Amino acid sequence: LKQRKVLEKVKSYVGGKPIIDKKVIKLNSNESPFMIPKKIIKKSLKCLKTLNRYHEPTGEFLREEIARKIELKPDNIILGNGSGEVIKMFIESFVEPSQNVIIPSVTFSLYSIYSTLNGNNIVYTRLDNELNIDLEDILSKATKNSVIFLANPNNPTGKSFDYKTIINFMEKLPKDANILLDEAYIEYSSHYNPKIYRELIKRFENLLIIKTFSKMGLAGLRIGYGFSREENIGEMNKVRPPFNTNILAQTIAYNLLKDNKFIDKIRSHVIKERERLSNAIRETNIKVYESDANFILIKTKEGIDKELEKKNILIRNAYSFGLSSDYYRITIGKKRENSILIKALREVLKWKKY
Ligand SMILES: Cc1ncc(COP(=O)(O)O)c(C=O)c1O
Repeated sequence: LKQRKVLEKVKSYVGGKPIIDKKVIKLNSNESPFMIPKKIIKKSLKCLKTLNRYHEPTGEFLREEIARKIELKPDNIILGNGSGEVIKMFIESFVEPSQNVIIPSVTFSLYSIYSTLNGNNIVYTRLDNELNIDLEDILSKATKNSVIFLANPNNPTGKSFDYKTIINFMEKLPKDANILLDEAYIEYSSHYNPKIYRELIKRFENLLIIKTFSKMGLAGLRIGYGFSREENIGEMNKVRPPFNTNILAQTIAYNLLKDNKFIDKIRSHVIKERERLSNAIRETNIKVYESDANFILIKTKEGIDKELEKKNILIRNAYSFGLSSDYYRITIGKKRENSILIKALREVLKWKKY
């Protein structure tokens, strides 16, 4: 086969190493350290009784439940096979190849992968010294018809903005700009406020917000969603692959949403452990960036990931995200896992005379 010319410019998406051995402490992919309650799985399995049939393709019952939580209508919501697919549908629906696509450097890699595939030239913007996205730089590069990708909190830095800043920023953008606001990690942020969505969608017709269940215990099921004005979701439904989310994923996500206790448990665990882990790592004189997500970014010496891997601990070198190879992203694990990591880091630093 002769590949499309554009593929010469695209590198495949690289995820964190998957788990191969139960002994491994996996802190490299920003997943939830906890399995969802067994009772949710048990209850959900009933949906498999009609597995021989096609299901309702848009996941109406799940969209209704999401809509109830964020005070919008089911028609404001579209489901994706992971929020990654929603990013792809956003581009297919609203981005012409000639449009100016603005992406902070660094951020989640799928924005540039899908934009490049779409034929767009990408304008990258800078981060400041503390690795915050430089909104002024975006504003200075935005032209009429610009498309802007903004992850809040950002991956891999964990940095976020409050909604006052975001609203202020969006109001300064050219009127025809399209914005994808990616809130994959927002539950872990101090700015988390699901009540704001109604106002945002009412105020900005050019905005799609995306969220995912992957960081709440369902990474392997592949289910995420986007919400926007009804007419925008109508356009996206034209590009949505038929039956893109499966019935089991829809049902488990629905039952998980009904269980506030589990979601609250992960949130408070991550927030508490993020503080403990950050402080403990700072004591070893490693630079730890303030994070608002379920991971932290550190800057230390090269090679730490290889040393930790020998001790069965996986963290992520941030080199593949576009930072230098002395940056590492570490997902917040269970309390015991974080303690093992802290101990292992101290040993590695001493032994390597870092
Ligand atoms: C900022 C951001 N957005 C979206 C995603 C995609 O998540 P998923 O496709 O699993 O919903 C990720 C995954 O890590 C992410 O970091």
